[in-house]
Amino acid sequence: MFEKLQPLAPDAIIGIMALFRQDQDPRKVDLSVGVYQDETGNTPVMACVKRAEQAIFAAQTTKTYVGIAGNAGFNSGMEQLLLGDSHAALADGRIATVQSPGGSGGLCVAGHLIHRATPDARVWLPTPSWPNHFPLLSLAGLELGQYPYYDQAAHAIDFDAMTACFESLGARDIVLLHGCCHNPCGADLTREQWDLLAEIFARRGVTAFVDFAYQGLAEGVDEDAYGARLMAERLPEAVIVGSCSKNFGLYRERVGSVSIVSQTAEASRVVATNLSSVARGIYSMPPDHGAAIVERVLNDPELRALWIDELGEVRNRINGLRQLLVAKLAERDVPRDFSFIGNERGMFSFLGITKEQVVRLREEFHVYMLESSRINLAGINDRNADYVADSIVAVL
Ligand code: LMR
Repeated sequence: MFEKLQPLAPDAIIGIMALFRQDQDPRKVDLSVGVYQDETGNTPVMACVKRAEQAIFAAQTTKTYVGIAGNAGFNSGMEQLLLGDSHAALADGRIATVQSPGGSGGLCVAGHLIHRATPDARVWLPTPSWPNHFPLLSLAGLELGQYPYYDQAAHAIDFDAMTACFESLGARDIVLLHGCCHNPCGADLTREQWDLLAEIFARRGVTAFVDFAYQGLAEGVDEDAYGARLMAERLPEAVIVGSCSKNFGLYRERVGSVSIVSQTAEASRVVATNLSSVARGIYSMPPDHGAAIVERVLNDPELRALWIDELGEVRNRINGLRQLLVAKLAERDVPRDFSFIGNERGMFSFLGITKEQVVRLREEFHVYMLESSRINLAGINDRNADYVADSIVAVL
């Protein structure tokens, strides 16, 4: 049966991470996978997470199942984090959420739910987007389209091309937008642009699908939520997928959520039963530990304040590293302007170099990034910044 399968190339992101781990060169620098690294190159466990974990271990008396929708306290905590305390969708009981195995699990559940509700729905992804969006959503049976987003030559969002595409969409269309910290390009929509998109979607009957994997890493937890909250307010229905991989540093624990905002509380109750049935059919129930940590952190005022501080440090460090790299490259008098990197947000930016230059950086200089030239700024630190800048200049 399986002998007909063909061997596949390694994953575009996780494959580079594996190559980096095999490299024994002491100069090696990892700018590939989207995980935060501190000044020493470590991906730390947040102090708020450690404290919540200790309390959980001390209090836990059973490992019996939690339930298909996961941890109810986590789900309501995520709804408030995503939408804010006073959002109308929360007050009206028009939001249904299930805990999912990471943001990816949430995307998968959302995809299957969309397909169950509207089998001929088309989901539109930005060009470029996170590569895993494509298999996660197409395996749900959905038709995918791509809309123009980032102009590689201009290092900017091509908003006119984007809106021209959206003006041709209608009620069977659902548009995936990165809530903030666009992966892979780091170029985020302005508030005015979100406003315009909400107006177009409302007028044309298009549904918004916000992948909100980096909440808190651009400007702040509430500031970053502008687009997601707006779509959930202006449109009759919206999908929001949350993730605690990056903002809680819980990567391997697989903690995420999928929320559907409906027009009425009654419709929301129907959606909730379907969300649970879709999740049950894919993985039955989500893992508990990471969500239990997030529930504690969000609901304990002291731990929550600590988390906000720690997340602020992560965000400020990454934004500082953006400025550092731009300055290091400018010092070297490169024949290119890299200042756009300083204006982008989150972990990622494209360097805008060729695939051959990316391969040279990896093979000759042991500097790892995605083939698309996406770099993770968090892999830069005071010790390697000069080396990274010299290596980039060398391949230019
Ligand atoms: C990334 O884009 O590097 C991260 O989201 C990790 C992943 O799973 O791809």
